[in-house]
Amino acid sequence: MAFDIEMIEKVYATLGERVEKARALVGRPLTLSEKILYSHLWEGTPTQAFTRGKDYVDFAPDRVACQDATAQMALLQFMHAGKSKVAVPTTVHCDHLIQAKVDAKTDLARAKQQSNEVFDFLSSVSDKYGIGFWKPGAGIIHQVVLENYAFPGGMMIGTDSHTVNAGGLGMLAIGVGGADAVDVMSGMAWELKFPKLIGVKLTGKLSGWTAPKDVILKVAGILTVKGGTGAIVEYFGEGATAMSCTGKGTICNMGAEIGATTSTFGYDASMDRYLRSTGRPDVADAANKVAQHLTADPEVYANPEQYFDQVIEINLSELEPHLNGPFTPDLATPISKMKEEAIKNNWPLKIEVGLIGSCTNSSYEDIARAASLAKQVSDKNLKTKAEFTITPGSETVRYTIERDGFIDIFDKIGATVFANACGPCIGMWDREGAEKEERNTIVHSFNRNFSKRADGNPNTLAFVGSPELVTALAIAGDLGFNPLTDTLINEDGEEVRLDEPTGDELPPKGFDAEDPGYQAPAEDGSGVQVAVSPTSERLQLLEPFSPWDGKNITNAKLLIKAFGKCTTDHISMAGPWLRFRGHLDNISNNMLIGAVNAFNQKTNSVKNQLTGDYDAVPAVQRAYKAAGVPSIVVGDHNYGEGSSREHAAMEPRFLGVKAVLVKSFARIHETNLKKQGMLALTFANEADYDKIQENDTINFIDLVSFTPGKPLTLEFVHADGSKDVIMANHSYNESQIGWFVAGSALNLIAAAGKA
Ligand code: F3S
Repeated sequence: MAFDIEMIEKVYATLGERVEKARALVGRPLTLSEKILYSHLWEGTPTQAFTRGKDYVDFAPDRVACQDATAQMALLQFMHAGKSKVAVPTTVHCDHLIQAKVDAKTDLARAKQQSNEVFDFLSSVSDKYGIGFWKPGAGIIHQVVLENYAFPGGMMIGTDSHTVNAGGLGMLAIGVGGADAVDVMSGMAWELKFPKLIGVKLTGKLSGWTAPKDVILKVAGILTVKGGTGAIVEYFGEGATAMSCTGKGTICNMGAEIGATTSTFGYDASMDRYLRSTGRPDVADAANKVAQHLTADPEVYANPEQYFDQVIEINLSELEPHLNGPFTPDLATPISKMKEEAIKNNWPLKIEVGLIGSCTNSSYEDIARAASLAKQVSDKNLKTKAEFTITPGSETVRYTIERDGFIDIFDKIGATVFANACGPCIGMWDREGAEKEERNTIVHSFNRNFSKRADGNPNTLAFVGSPELVTALAIAGDLGFNPLTDTLINEDGEEVRLDEPTGDELPPKGFDAEDPGYQAPAEDGSGVQVAVSPTSERLQLLEPFSPWDGKNITNAKLLIKAFGKCTTDHISMAGPWLRFRGHLDNISNNMLIGAVNAFNQKTNSVKNQLTGDYDAVPAVQRAYKAAGVPSIVVGDHNYGEGSSREHAAMEPRFLGVKAVLVKSFARIHETNLKKQGMLALTFANEADYDKIQENDTINFIDLVSFTPGKPLTLEFVHADGSKDVIMANHSYNESQIGWFVAGSALNLIAAAGKA
């Protein structure tokens, strides 16, 4: 089922030679990130040095992973590519479509019934095209990848923004849209702008209440949600090597929250231990033989300022536990300041629910340390004040923690163990009472805390912390509780203090599982039938998007000028909409319904310029489409941050939006728009955002000479007849312009397949 040691040995066989060649071409010592990038060039051995942040480069990733929500669209697209088998090892993981409500068993059974059609589709497509299939209940994609597939020095892509989690095992693992995955699965190169490099030097050592999560919470506070854009974050230093491999995974996982392309750590003993503990001694042995190439050259970490574009230093011995939030993962507050901040901002102090687990934090170490606190509830005669839930990252982790007695400990504090799936992290949480939309506080060890993300209630304030801190806060039921200094009153009226969390990094008796939940594909899948019912609500075969007509776009209407944060959750909401991820027409009914209209500050209420009436965004856009009127969307900074879901690009494309013009884009979303044949543009002058008016009609002046590096000119005609000419930058290279011309990147692949 698991890793492909032959593939890994093949990567390692040429690693030394490629690194040496790259070092000579670049003319200086190399960071780890550069070693992995240069050893995965599509062309093979490097022949030129690349400029960071500028050159588009073709890469050859070793693996692809897809989760069920994005895999549907990725595989529907792959079916159009005309291939009989995937070109690189690929896996599909069923984790997003399982709603958390009662408990693991009940919820899993219900999900299998509700999403049977989708799971069957994914299973049969996987079987047919040589893809490893992880059934519902097997676990969350990133935990399963870390346990089975990630390897030091490797490069993988995944159709989920937290694919970056595999950096914990020294990989460059990058979240992409499904169209990128289709390229790689079809045996084509995968293109990425050569990233900039941010070095994070970790000095000192974690101890006591501080956990790896606090490192990334701190980094998010420093860099903000867009500070990592276009960059790989490489961690190093004594604090890095002293940390567990899964702790490194947590840090890399939340690199998605700072917009980083990915994050990684150099190979060390913690990775060797993790590989052996997860049944991969041969990968550890192979990695040990090339260990010098699996970390930066020594000069780099000795003088990081010379080799990275930016360097941050964090002393782990002084690092405090943090809580980040609410509503954004970069609002970092050290626990000692939380009470003060909460009172100042009027955040409800009472904690309703503490949730641990998810792909970010459900390692054996995380659970063991959280359990060491839960155990103190009975030992010290305390009562847990908040509800408490656990979503294990994989069946292997769940089975192992149950065997080792941790589930029993959590049971005693009244915890609910949800299925090994995303659940509350992706809004698949049927939380009782959430529909009342009461203002309330929850704490969780997940990664994202955007409005409505966990339970659909815009008035839920979610704070992100380590599993240890979340457990302590759930016991206390108080956001202002600082376990480092504060005491609790137990059931006997005594003041007690929680002891610092403790726990093994890896299970002393090893990992185990009766059935990890893997299904291998057929050796020869040519006879496997993939059925999609034409009347299905959940799945719809795709029609290719039309090519560009070669003319300037004229008389386009402004669909929406989005105000402030507009993440992929705002553009294509998750939660209940996840069920339509395989049906483009149906899911398009959620297009931009979470975005705030800058003109009335309302969500899902925009003016239909054809009638003058206000209506839901999808309804207005469908009216424009029916009338053959093109439209454009205008947005603010970091538009499309968050997830890799390409639905956020496919929906506007499908409904007839022609261009998205914003102050800045999140990387994956920008690429997704390009791949679907949309125009992804940025204001040359950000202040022009303010010139856009509600009744604007837009004419492209020089789209007919669309060229790399040349801004486009757009004319905005206002209701009173006055005009503003606005310059729009773009980052399309020659081949990306080819996607726009062809109607989508997939149209080009399919045409090449037929040629
Ligand atoms: Fe799933 Fe949340 Fe991770 S949605 S993949 S658990 S970020």
